[in-house]
Amino acid sequence: MIETRALSVALSGKPVLADISVALPKGRLTALVGPNGAGKSTLLMTLGRLLEPASGDILIDGRDLRAVPPRELALQLSILRQEGAIGPRLTVRDLVSFGRYPHSHGRLTAADRLEVQRAIDRLDLAGFADRYLDTLSGGQKQRAQIAMVLAQQTDVILLDEPLNNLDLAHARRVMRIAREEADAGRTVIVVLHDLTVAAAYADHVVAMKAGRVAAEGPSEEVISEEVLSRLFETDVSVAEVGGRRVVLTL
Ligand SMILES: Nc1ncnc2c1ncn2[C@@H]1O[C@H](COP(=O)(O)OP(=O)(O)OP(=O)(O)O)[C@@H](O)[C@H]1O
Ligand SMILES: [Mg+2]
Repeated sequence: MIETRALSVALSGKPVLADISVALPKGRLTALVGPNGAGKSTLLMTLGRLLEPASGDILIDGRDLRAVPPRELALQLSILRQEGAIGPRLTVRDLVSFGRYPHSHGRLTAADRLEVQRAIDRLDLAGFADRYLDTLSGGQKQRAQIAMVLAQQTDVILLDEPLNNLDLAHARRVMRIAREEADAGRTVIVVLHDLTVAAAYADHVVAMKAGRVAAEGPSEEVISEEVLSRLFETDVSVAEVGGRRVVLTL
């Protein structure tokens, strides 16, 4: 469980997040949604300790994030950044192997290699494992970065727009993996723009707007016409198709 208390963050001296108090449950998939510029990536980066809060607290399983030593944090939390810079002269397997670094410190054991292969297989990258990243398509690169995150096997998984560049079959595969990770007891937080996907996979939803929490609660409550129309300042319809909620704008 990750909890934030009155969290605020400033970037270049400008307040970007204000008074964020959320509780992101363990063993659940939380979707972070909201318009461009709402502060979703900033929140995710702050939870991952890549940005420092101006004030407020972040607690992971009741423990102050500031008190967690870096090595321990690397074993506990992994993050897919929205704009991750990756070295082009690395193969997919090299990149995914970096995910094992906090465990292996550069000396991969047989168990580490198995985890690397498993992550590669889960992301449907077996045919690309020995290819250099700069020879891959956008979606293949994105999948390689997700595989690196999964190989870390952390209790907390933060994914910023993991579906960017993915075709619909691979998007589904990634959301199923996120679901499996949550079902295995991990705290999974995913930034999503596709609200139909959020409705289908998330247990818990945090809706952000202009640096604040606009709504937080069970997916059925937050993925509603009223909340979403207000959030995006545009008419949003939520229809039922085959027993599932589908979010539409016309
Ligand atoms: N380095 C920076 N300095 C100043 N302002 C910044 C900086 N980085 C981001 N911002 C601003 O902070 C706000 C939140 O940005 P953030 O990237 O968290 O939004 P987001 O919700 O992830 O949006 P998107 O859906 O477009 O990814 C935006 O208004 C953005 O312009
Ligand atoms: Mg973002």
